[in-house]
Amino acid sequence: MKILVTGGAGYIGSHTVVELVHAGYDVVLVDNLSNSSPKTPDVLSSMTGRALPFYEADLRDREALQRIFRTEKPDGVIHLAGWKAVGESVKLPLSYYQNNLMSTITLLEVMEEADVRNLVFSSSATVYDQAAAMPLKETSGIEAGNPYGRTKEFIEKMLRDTWEADKEWSIVSLRYFNPAGAHPSGRIGEKPNGIPNNLMPYLSQVAAGVREELHVFGSDYPTPDGTGVRDYIHVCDLAAGHVRALEVLSDSCRYEEINLGTGAGTSVLELVQAYEQVLGRPIPLKMVERRPGDAAVSFADTHKAVALLQWKPERGVQDMCRDAWRWEQQQAAEVLQ
Ligand code: NAD
Ligand code: UFG
Repeated sequence: MKILVTGGAGYIGSHTVVELVHAGYDVVLVDNLSNSSPKTPDVLSSMTGRALPFYEADLRDREALQRIFRTEKPDGVIHLAGWKAVGESVKLPLSYYQNNLMSTITLLEVMEEADVRNLVFSSSATVYDQAAAMPLKETSGIEAGNPYGRTKEFIEKMLRDTWEADKEWSIVSLRYFNPAGAHPSGRIGEKPNGIPNNLMPYLSQVAAGVREELHVFGSDYPTPDGTGVRDYIHVCDLAAGHVRALEVLSDSCRYEEINLGTGAGTSVLELVQAYEQVLGRPIPLKMVERRPGDAAVSFADTHKAVALLQWKPERGVQDMCRDAWRWEQQQAAEVLQ
């Protein structure tokens, strides 16, 4: 079975490609490299021992996409391509709607023309209403709080409508919680542009001495230690969840929304402690004001993923910190070469 991975050169896409090849799938990558390195497709070919076809193309380029479908004849698509920076989406909402929505619409149209109706989509826990009770269930209230999140909310609705209109489609929207860590080989990982917005890459840069100290956004939340609680999930576990979703898709025609998280909450200070254990030294930090828009707590109800995908994460926060640190050191070594 051949799977086209959009955004295959990105952070989650690259790990998903490795997992797919190991599970026996043929894999084709498409990415416009707007947020990824041109080296990644070659690294993936080297890691998997396969010459993986890579197309540098924008998903909004209909003719390019049609050519890829004609040449490669994929059986299904994992659609990860999109922009994901919350703050940037607040400043540039139309760019986000243009990129994330138009690329998905073009992809769906080209898939329909090519008679390919198996799709796994990268959604996000950010679609949930922040006021919803924990743990977040797939049936909890939906109300994204920023333009990026709304692109995910709208795409989910579009996918459901597509399936309602033509029940030959088989679509799964995977709502990721907080992806973290890197491949244990140290060869692929997350490479944020500029100052990282997310906790784990910021922590890694403080550990490496690239940044002076971690700013902990808020210490007065109604949580056991006052800092924000999230459901961190190892990127390799997340990648494995995509493979399981494909297997479920090929069984039947359906539309499903499924949480991919661990079901466990970890506070900012607990994550810092786990990182310190890996490093064997303290990480400098400073408590600062809350970051506007942040929820106090977010973690997944994982019952649906366990029941439907027969999938459970295998790695914990210590693994995520260890692998993120290995990746950070690998990056530093490359800069020195
Ligand atoms: P990433 O930026 O590393 O990967 C996305 C890839 O898509 C990049 O390589 C980028 O170049 C490519 N891309 C963007 N627009 C494109 C277009 N129009 N045509 C072709 N390629 C395009 O991000 P990631 O962390 O790997 O995220 C993958 C998906 O998962 C995204 O859709 C993101 O919104 C979603 N997601 C990520 C997180 C997270 O915390 N990382 C959480 C929830 C959901
Ligand atoms: N935090 C800090 N300091 C930092 C960065 C983050 O204290 O420098 C705190 C935040 O306040 C929060 C926690 O660390 O309590 C996690 O923050 P992240 O920015 O790493 O993650 P978020 O939960 O805010 O959001 C992330 C992605 C969203 C995605 C969501 C759910 O950025 O796009 O996870 O998947 F939707």
